[in-house]
Amino acid sequence: MLGFPFAPAGSPLSLPPIYDELRRERPVCRVRLPTGAHAWLVTTWADARFVLSDPRFSKAAMTRPDAPKARPGELPRGVLFTTDPPEHTRLRALLSRALTTRRILSLRPRMVAYADHLIERMTPPADLVSSFAAPLAMRATCDLLGVPVSDQEQFAAWSETVLAVDGRSSGDVERAQRELFAYIGGLVETRTGNPGNDLVSDLLRHASPEPVVGLVATLLVTGYETMAAGVTNSVLTLLAAHGKLLPDLDSDALEELFRFAAFGDALRSRRALRDVRVGPVLVRAGDLVMVSTASANRDPSVFGDADMFLPTRCPNPHVAFGRGVHYCAGASLARTQLRIALSRLAYRLPGLSLATPLADITLRPGGSESPPERLLVRW
Ligand code: HEM
Repeated sequence: MLGFPFAPAGSPLSLPPIYDELRRERPVCRVRLPTGAHAWLVTTWADARFVLSDPRFSKAAMTRPDAPKARPGELPRGVLFTTDPPEHTRLRALLSRALTTRRILSLRPRMVAYADHLIERMTPPADLVSSFAAPLAMRATCDLLGVPVSDQEQFAAWSETVLAVDGRSSGDVERAQRELFAYIGGLVETRTGNPGNDLVSDLLRHASPEPVVGLVATLLVTGYETMAAGVTNSVLTLLAAHGKLLPDLDSDALEELFRFAAFGDALRSRRALRDVRVGPVLVRAGDLVMVSTASANRDPSVFGDADMFLPTRCPNPHVAFGRGVHYCAGASLARTQLRIALSRLAYRLPGLSLATPLADITLRPGGSESPPERLLVRW
């Protein structure tokens, strides 16, 4: 049985080379995880879409006491990403009422201003992760949720611990989760008595505080690291594979960034509710199944020159945002944020380039997204 995670490739732009072999020869294979649990790893585009959208693969069953663990610590129960329909449908409908296009558009001017503010404070060589991508993602998430600036650093620390897949003890993950929920409980309580024009107040108009706390925590953990990684990985992709930032990022180029720049494994997990055939394998009821959307997005049977970044690629049926009922609820916000981040950098720092040879850039192990630890840039 293969040990997981796999050894990284020589370049951060490449997936571990074993994925090519797995897609060809063992598209659904058994792996042993750092938690000690065993899981099926799904690597092709067709199987990924099947597992992510078939109701026989459950999120809720991953929280049962006998479930094999994909990550350390207990998963929170009853939140968007650990429920199945019909409970999930109710929560998702509630979120859609508050996470509207109008709200996303209303966040744009502050995002642009904060991106410019961060760029002004950067001096070359600068670490793009700590000086731009991470603070911008944190500020955007906190603005969305109405979290005060003074609490943002603590928020970032909790969120990183909660999302870790290895290297943290179960105790640390559970403590961070408890503290995060307690903090958000306080935030929701404040809004209950004093509603405003923010997302939490909007949610509270349609639901009691309990599901609102769960939704806010969900948005925080799902929105922050993915965006920090998305911006970092996209800058790295553009500078390394394309030579420069794109001043006019059209939607083909944007979608290609989402397809290509999910470095690491981008794993999404489910648990089988009954025996189901996936490709050549019979997955048994109760088994843990992990989908590598990164591998699916480089499946050569769907994407020509799959390992190349082609900004004009169209059509681009990538699965970076998943598929089915759990399709990323923040996809539209993610597109907006990435476009703002990249266009402000291209506009303010048109001569941006990497300050480190590509071979010396290592990806961060242990997160569900794997951006480089640091990305030194100059201009
Ligand atoms: C680069 C950016 C992003 C990527 C690649 C991404 C990717 C994904 C994927 C693949 C899923 C589905 C997981 C599964 O099926 O197991 C998901 C779910 C989700 N994402 Fe995103 N995401 C991004 C940004 C965001 C942002 C900015 C937010 C909001 C602030 C967000 C909120 C969510 C939520 C709430 C879910 C759970 C949806 C559900 O279970 O119904 N995401 N995301």
